[in-house]
Amino acid sequence: MGITGMIYMVPMVFSLTVLILPLSTVGFDYFQFTQQYQPAVCRSNPTPCKDPPDKLFTVHGLWPSNMNGPDPKDCSTTPLNSTKLKNIKAQLEIIWPNVLNRNDHVTFWGKQWNKHGSCGHPAITDEVNYFQTVIKMYTTQKQNVSEILSKAKIEPEGKTREVKDIENAIRNGTNNKKPKFKCQKNNRTTELVEVTLCSDSNLMQFINCPRPILPGSPYLCPAKVPY
Ligand SMILES: *[C@@H]1O[C@H](CO)[C@@H](O)[C@H](O)[C@H]1NC(C)=O
Ligand SMILES: *[C@@H]1O[C@H](CO)[C@@H](O)[C@H](O)[C@H]1NC(C)=O
Ligand SMILES: *[C@@H]1O[C@H](CO)[C@@H](O)[C@H](O)[C@H]1NC(C)=O
Ligand SMILES: *[C@@H]1O[C@H](CO)[C@@H](O)[C@H](O)[C@H]1NC(C)=O
Repeated sequence: MGITGMIYMVPMVFSLTVLILPLSTVGFDYFQFTQQYQPAVCRSNPTPCKDPPDKLFTVHGLWPSNMNGPDPKDCSTTPLNSTKLKNIKAQLEIIWPNVLNRNDHVTFWGKQWNKHGSCGHPAITDEVNYFQTVIKMYTTQKQNVSEILSKAKIEPEGKTREVKDIENAIRNGTNNKKPKFKCQKNNRTTELVEVTLCSDSNLMQFINCPRPILPGSPYLCPAKVPY
């Protein structure tokens, strides 16, 4: 290649890089399946929940994620068509309620689909598949965190618990893979707000959750929490 060729190549390679970089951030390495403990969510929210919470871990979301940030987001901006969910709505209301406002589950579901679920190709094919996948994970695949803890005789009784015991119970239900915990200080006590189970990008097997919450973060769990 002559010097003239080189002169044309340099800007070409540069523009290709500019084109390719944003595309590569659309991919993801694994899924986080995050469940939230309803009473703790209500207590950590600045405005009280409209309805009393159940003592249950229910779904916050299923999130395509990257080992080395940033996570993909907002891959669709089309409003969720709730008519398409009519056959699974009753099940979703149980496992994936909008804890903060039970009169409006669809807004919560729509946000989760637009921000996270829409980025889940090819494991997630469309919005109905996103919600069906979560129902399957929570119910048939027994990833219901409340049920996993209950099997280990850890019931929501407001007792002081070692986070290590909670972790071991969850590992027992997830092929000994490490979950991720998020705690929050509410009114002096620090509570367990969220438990995340991690799976590979095909949703075929559990993996150890990457990127734990680090010391210094306000969401780090202490050694003991009430549950
Ligand atoms: C919503 O989905 C239903 C059922 O698939 C369809 O008939 C309707 O046209 C859709 N509405 C919009 C606004 O896309
Ligand atoms: C999840 O587990 C809890 C505790 O065992 C149980 O009460 C609840 O009904 C379960 N939810 C579903 C949808 O199976
Ligand atoms: C571990 O899981 C097995 C199978 O689900 C269950 O029978 C056992 O009670 C669990 N043990 C603990 C400590 O969670
Ligand atoms: C915070 O603690 C005070 C005093 O113990 C109690 O009266 C109040 O109800 C608590 N607030 C919440 C949101 O739990």
